[in-house]
Amino acid sequence: MNPVRIAVLGCGTVGTEVVRLLHEQAADLTARIGAPLQLVGVAVRRLSRDRGDLPVDPDLFTTDALGLVKRDDVDIVVEVVGGIEPARTWLVEALRAGKSVVTANKALLAEDGATLHAAAVDGRADLYYEAAVAGAIPLLRPLRESLHGDRITRVTGIVNGTTNFILSSMDETGVGFSEALDQATALGYAEADPTADVEGFDAAAKAAILASLAFHTRVRAADVHREGITEVSAADMASAKAMGCTIKLLCITESSGDAVSVRVHPAMIPRTHPLASVGGAFNAVFVEAQAAGQLMFYGQGAGGAPTASAVLGDIVAVARNRLAGVRAASESAYADLRIRPIGEA
Ligand code: HSE
Repeated sequence: MNPVRIAVLGCGTVGTEVVRLLHEQAADLTARIGAPLQLVGVAVRRLSRDRGDLPVDPDLFTTDALGLVKRDDVDIVVEVVGGIEPARTWLVEALRAGKSVVTANKALLAEDGATLHAAAVDGRADLYYEAAVAGAIPLLRPLRESLHGDRITRVTGIVNGTTNFILSSMDETGVGFSEALDQATALGYAEADPTADVEGFDAAAKAAILASLAFHTRVRAADVHREGITEVSAADMASAKAMGCTIKLLCITESSGDAVSVRVHPAMIPRTHPLASVGGAFNAVFVEAQAAGQLMFYGQGAGGAPTASAVLGDIVAVARNRLAGVRAASESAYADLRIRPIGEA
């Protein structure tokens, strides 16, 4: 059986784990797919970086990502670089050429998912992105496939692990925001520049992707009403506790009639709510659908190995599709729903 040939763009925390798992699980993946997966190139920013014992032929590394994407011997492009450009150029090129794309790039999908989906339709190519929201948690495939016959009414979630860690420590130990952020930084949860997490930008991008899939519409990060957690004080948390509540940074997206509302903000929730018990850097998403009722998805929303798990799952799916000569159903049939401003009745 001919191999399915993969190019990986990016070899940071997630890319390293993807490459390692492709190597370590090669025999199992071959059995599951029905053909071997062959890594044909890894695009990196710098060739000189020490990659330790990564099981990759050094000749496969290149700094020419676009050249790698354009090669005829690439079937699947895996993008784990992030950011808008040049990732958009690479992925549009790949999709228009009929290559399958697996990406974890939430910023790009939330900013310009429309361009990627259009390129996938043009090239009759698969576009999968389970790792873009909530890391290892199988969430986008259920929204995109399993719940497709139902009518989703609301998606409420904790989709940022860093802020959940901070708010959980404020709740458990009574410390203020700055002290809890320092702990998160010391433990490696928060980035050196925590702005994207603590100001809610990361959660807003994920909320836009969730709303687009749940309500079959197009929501961009800029459409999301966003408030971060920097103003949540120890006194706020103490008041919430006194009322039998805790404070979580929630992404809340709802559909009613011709409109959707999408917002990210700190919210007081009763301790009895399933999301209240989500501690540490975990993520959880609560989905409400007309026929299915209430569903909850919980797990690790970040980190190299958990995110790589979602990427590998997508690689298996698109490889199987290629071998079967099919592609996932088009997501081009979007409903044109209005974004309801906050405060509108
Ligand atoms: N900074 C993100 C988080 C990483 O804390 O959840 C995963 O997107």
